[in-house]
Amino acid sequence: PEVRPLVAGNWKMNGTRGSLDQIKAISEGVRGGLSSKVDALICPPATLLYVATALCTDSPLSIGAQDCHQNASGAHTGDISAEMIADCFGTHVIVGHSERRTDHDEDDALVRAKAQAAHAADLTAIICIGETEEQRRNGETLDVLKRQLAGSIPDGANAARTVIAYEPVWAIGTGLTPTVADVEEAHAFMRRELSERFGEQGSTMRILYGGSVKPSNAKELMAIPNVDGALIGGASLKAEDFLAIYRVYE
Ligand code: G3H
Repeated sequence: PEVRPLVAGNWKMNGTRGSLDQIKAISEGVRGGLSSKVDALICPPATLLYVATALCTDSPLSIGAQDCHQNASGAHTGDISAEMIADCFGTHVIVGHSERRTDHDEDDALVRAKAQAAHAADLTAIICIGETEEQRRNGETLDVLKRQLAGSIPDGANAARTVIAYEPVWAIGTGLTPTVADVEEAHAFMRRELSERFGEQGSTMRILYGGSVKPSNAKELMAIPNVDGALIGGASLKAEDFLAIYRVYE
């Protein structure tokens, strides 16, 4: 089945008011023909969410957040809820990024609860999974992906509101990427798992690749079967690089 690609940028803890010109440039760059077949998204830090969405009214560029709390509201100092992201006109939220799993001890059950909270606020949840270097060395990659998919995706998830991002932890910010054959195997495996559990919804749920995606390797990576777009860290901070990756679909 035809799956509409998504090219997404995760700014992580980078970006200040001064970076809003990059959002503007990306917003301008994604106007036009290609936006009818490829979605574009930037997830800036939460401090920039409201201003970023205000800059993108009437733009095909979507704006999302990098995390949300699993509860709808309450005494959770410093956290933001999915509803608050929607309140800022954000449409997506990344959950379970490996940096959250490591820095904040997030496990699959918590990631699943966060994805549920995102769905309840009508946001699209981008659920991140991926093996560590040690797990890969031990030949456990597919087992890890199976476990994380089973544990992190809420029951009843649909393709419109759920995106999977496969990010091998060792490929994040390192300049290293898996071979084309390895990416192909992992994505085919995830597709089978998703289709088995979610049927038709699983066969059209987008599966992004993330980890050292840059203009020079994007074309090759995005052409791999079942790779339905990219989750870009470092290279999404510069409009020029983000747009070069987006345009591999031209
Ligand atoms: O969410 C994005 C990823 O962690 C990838 O980061 O493109 O800087 O390797 P990177």
